[in-house]
Amino acid sequence: MLYAVTSLRSAASAYHAFKSVSANGITMDMPNSASSGRPHSSKIYYDLSGLYDKIFERVFKRRIFQVVNRLNIPAGARVLEVGVGTGLSLNAYPRHAEVTCVDLSQDMLDIAAEKMTKARHGHIKLMQMDGQNLKFDTDEFDYVTAFHVVTVVPDPAKLVNELTRVCKPDGQVVIINHFRSPRPYISAIVDLADPVTRRLGWSTRLSLDKAMEGQSLALQQSYKTSPWSLFTVVEARKFAEAAAARRRAV
Ligand SMILES: C[S@@+](CC[C@H](N)C(=O)[O-])C[C@H]1O[C@@H](n2cnc3c(N)ncnc32)[C@H](O)[C@@H]1O
Repeated sequence: MLYAVTSLRSAASAYHAFKSVSANGITMDMPNSASSGRPHSSKIYYDLSGLYDKIFERVFKRRIFQVVNRLNIPAGARVLEVGVGTGLSLNAYPRHAEVTCVDLSQDMLDIAAEKMTKARHGHIKLMQMDGQNLKFDTDEFDYVTAFHVVTVVPDPAKLVNELTRVCKPDGQVVIINHFRSPRPYISAIVDLADPVTRRLGWSTRLSLDKAMEGQSLALQQSYKTSPWSLFTVVEARKFAEAAAARRRAV
């Protein structure tokens, strides 16, 4: 519970911090990100990207490292991370992998790029790209990851579909996200935070079932890294048959 309270308190203070910094205030509407080139109507992911690490590093980084470490990514594996942000995950990826990281926000990527230069991460490439419309071939990557991003984008289903498309048959799609609790009394409470989190840049209303619906993915496991965490880790494998059928149809 303490973790949940801390997370909500961080989110609330972030909201106030951003509100006081922003001259124009923060728009409530969900963005038309792809056409504007801005990741979200929330300024966190562009004008205020410099504050991101101060607020979220403590909450997100440890979990990201736990999740990536568990994957035991083998030498030579091709990894794509979508929505890498300021690069909290960069040090988690082994140097023996070939890693591509994309984000819609150039401001967030610029901060990630500074970290890469300092750490001499020659095995990682950064690219600006919309996760809902990835410029990669079908079946390109062994691992596709998306941390704290699925409910940030306007069309989560499209994003998960793209993560799946670019993943190789039998490859893994790994997501960390907040999903709506199946327990009505919990979801009712968390729903109360939705107006605040939307202003910060994400929605709390997507369920895991909805996120997986119709995707060519077999859920391997979903778990939390701590009993109090608001976030769920999802490991899923892309169906080999579905990919083969799609190739035959083209
Ligand atoms: C909450 S941050 C998470 C960043 C990072 N994954 C982490 O865990 O710290 C969400 C990120 O998604 C990015 N984003 C938003 N919409 C996107 C889109 N359509 N395509 C790619 N990235 C997007 C934002 O720019 C931001 O960097």
